[in-house]
Amino acid sequence: MPALDGKHGLIVGVANKRSISWAIAQAAAAAGARLALTYPSERLEENVRELAATLDKPVLAPCDVGSDQQIADLAATVDREFGGLDFFVHGAAFAPAEALSKPFVETSREAFRTALDVSAYSLVALTRAVMPLMEKRGGGSVLTLTYIGSQRVFPNYNVMGVAKAALESSVRYLAADLGPKNIRVNAISAGAIKTLAAAGISGFSSILQVYRDRAPLRRGVDQTEVADAAMFLLSDAGRAVTGSILMVDAGFHAMGL
Ligand SMILES: NC(=O)c1ccc[n+]([C@@H]2O[C@H](COP(=O)([O-])OP(=O)(O)OC[C@H]3O[C@@H](n4cnc5c(N)ncnc54)[C@H](O)[C@@H]3O)[C@@H](O)[C@H]2O)c1
Repeated sequence: MPALDGKHGLIVGVANKRSISWAIAQAAAAAGARLALTYPSERLEENVRELAATLDKPVLAPCDVGSDQQIADLAATVDREFGGLDFFVHGAAFAPAEALSKPFVETSREAFRTALDVSAYSLVALTRAVMPLMEKRGGGSVLTLTYIGSQRVFPNYNVMGVAKAALESSVRYLAADLGPKNIRVNAISAGAIKTLAAAGISGFSSILQVYRDRAPLRRGVDQTEVADAAMFLLSDAGRAVTGSILMVDAGFHAMGL
C-alpha cells in the first residue's frame, strides 16, 4: 500500500463504522497519516468520537457543510492543530427522504436546493477553505465520493444523481483551478454499498443484486476496496492524476446490459 507517513488529512463524512469515509480513515491511519474527523451534528458526535478514539492523536471538530461559518472554523482548527494539510476526503451527501422515493419529476425546489448544496457545493466551499493549508505543504490531494447515478438513471436515486453530476463537474473545474498550486482533485465512483446514506434510497437492495448479476466481477464492492483505491489518489502514487473519476465498482460501468 502507498505510504502516507508524516501526512495530515481531513476526513468529512464519517457517520458510523459502515461509512466509506471511515474505511478511508482507517486505511489512511494505517498508512501513517494523522487525521482530523468531523461530525455534522450533536446527534452523530458520540458515534464519531468513539470511532476517532481508535486512531492515534485524532482531531475532532464539528462541521455541518451547509454552514460557511462552520467550514471556516474547521479550517482554522485544522491549521492550528496540523499547521497545514496534505489531503482532504469529502464524503458528505444528503437529500431529503421524500426526494428519494417519489418520482423525480416531483422533486421540490427546496429538496433540489438542499441536495445540491450539501452534496455538491460543499466540495467547492471546503476545498476553498483548505486550499491555503495545502499551499503551505506545497500541494495536496482532494478526494470526493460519487456514484454512476450521475450519468444513468437508477430507481429512486433521483435528485442525488443530479447532485452527483454537479459534484463530478465541480471536480474537473476545481482540478483546473488548483492544479497550478499542485493540488489535485479527484473522485472515486464507488459501486453500491449498504451504508446509512444508501439506506435512505428506496429499493436499494435491488440495486445491490444487479451488481452481483451483471458486473464483470459478478459481485459488489465493499468499503475497504474503495479505501484501497483512495490510498492511491491521496498518496504520491497518484501524483500525476487530477480531474479524474475513478470507477471502483467491480466493472459495472463498462456494461451496456
Ligand atoms: N453507499 C453507496 O452505495 C455509495 C456509492 C457511491 C458513492 N457514495 C457516496 O459516498 C459518500 C459517503 O456515503 P456513505 O455511503 O459512506 O454513507 P454515510 O451515511 O456513512 O455517509 C454520508 C455522510 O454525509 C454526512 N452528511 C450529511 N449531511 C451533512 C451535512 N449537512 N454536513 C456534514 N456532513 C453531512 C453524514 O453525516 C454522513 O457521515 C456519499 O457522498 C455517498 O453519496 C455512496
